[in-house]
Amino acid sequence: MTASAVAPRALSYQPGEPFARALDAADPLAAFRDRFQHPVGPDGRPLVYLTGNSLGLMPKTVPDRMQQELRDWGTLAVEAHMKAKTPWYNYHEVLRDPLARLVGALPDEVVAMNSLTINLHLMLVTFYQPTATRYKVLVEDAAFPSDSYAIASHLRLRGIDPAQALIIVRPRAGEHTLRTEDVLAQIQKQGAEIALVLLGGVHYYSGLLHDMARITTAGHAAGCKVGFDLAHAAGNAKLSLHDWNVDFAVWCCYKYLNGGPGAVGGCFVHQRFGNDRALPRLAGWWGNDPATRFRLHLNAEFVPQPGADGWQISNPPIFSMTPLHAALEIFDEAGIDALRAKSVRLTGYLEYLLDGIQGGGMTIITPRDPAARGCQLSLLIPKRAQEIHEGITAQGIVADFRQPDVIRMAPAPLFNSYHDVWRAAEVLRGQMGRL
Ligand SMILES: Cc1ncc(COP(=O)(O)O)c(C=O)c1O
Repeated sequence: MTASAVAPRALSYQPGEPFARALDAADPLAAFRDRFQHPVGPDGRPLVYLTGNSLGLMPKTVPDRMQQELRDWGTLAVEAHMKAKTPWYNYHEVLRDPLARLVGALPDEVVAMNSLTINLHLMLVTFYQPTATRYKVLVEDAAFPSDSYAIASHLRLRGIDPAQALIIVRPRAGEHTLRTEDVLAQIQKQGAEIALVLLGGVHYYSGLLHDMARITTAGHAAGCKVGFDLAHAAGNAKLSLHDWNVDFAVWCCYKYLNGGPGAVGGCFVHQRFGNDRALPRLAGWWGNDPATRFRLHLNAEFVPQPGADGWQISNPPIFSMTPLHAALEIFDEAGIDALRAKSVRLTGYLEYLLDGIQGGGMTIITPRDPAARGCQLSLLIPKRAQEIHEGITAQGIVADFRQPDVIRMAPAPLFNSYHDVWRAAEVLRGQMGRL
């Protein structure tokens, strides 16, 4: 089969390796794969890496970029704050525009700082303002544990019992993912008591992509604040946080954004709040107006700078920002629209191949509608799931396993090929056939 045999926009697929090769040959983003270092197996062959939803791959430019920062430290020391190749003093600013483009925000609505859960705490200080009658928090079952711990700690700090204040929206009996209409119904029913709606943009376990625009509109109509954890959505789904009118969002950059382990996190604060100096917040010198930042003993009063920058606490962590800087340059080159278009096709291909696996009772619990998911598919395997996961791992497929019975596969359009997807499905088919 030749590349021209694959119509660029056709969403129909065929089985067999030649079709995978043809899809790769026709893929305008195929060359980006080589911009990343792929781990190899004992046979020297690259592993099929489907865990960009956990830790993204390293852009090949990262070692040189890190060396540059180390050189600047060694040769310039404190002077590097102003004289480094990328001056350290405002390193966070070089990340702003590319991050804003990725999440659909105005530049001053976005800042790179801290890590996800810390940023969530900072946002809860500002946006969770309970009153005697409006104090509840609407979350989903199961929210990522770190988010649940963070929310419960804020409730307790304010003397509120989490058991009384958490509204946990669950999928319907026999279903695996939440329905937007059920979230909206809860907001309508209990909205007068809800201070905050807080959901994962893409659910980490099921891969469901929430309809954030509708949820935000409904939350606001009921007088609630609405925020999202975008750990699994940033760099994975097309986001329009500004236009959707989302109040705040937080995300990590080590998953789909390929910013490296423990990379600095991202935070979005809608422009509506950026200039409100009266908002309660935790303060630190880096959130202060730079004009008076160094006049600490002369101007003891905290003066928040406008925009999301005003929520910063500490000066930028250069070694945590440098790999992200390198990765965001690649995102800018590829463009999120092109990435999302490939992602829909790549994940659709995985779905097609998985649907062809007979026996074993595997269920894809991720929504079938591409508009309601990112790149991840979560596979519920009723029998010997762990054994199957170990089997595919031994054959060079890196996917992750969630107890007790779910394997998550997340083909990332930046560095995964159609052939990766074909190989993963073939290996899984072999393992399922051994049941
Ligand atoms: C959905 C979600 N929220 C929160 C976190 C916690 O992130 P961090 O350790 O950067 O605070 C993670 C980490 O994987 C996550 O997947």
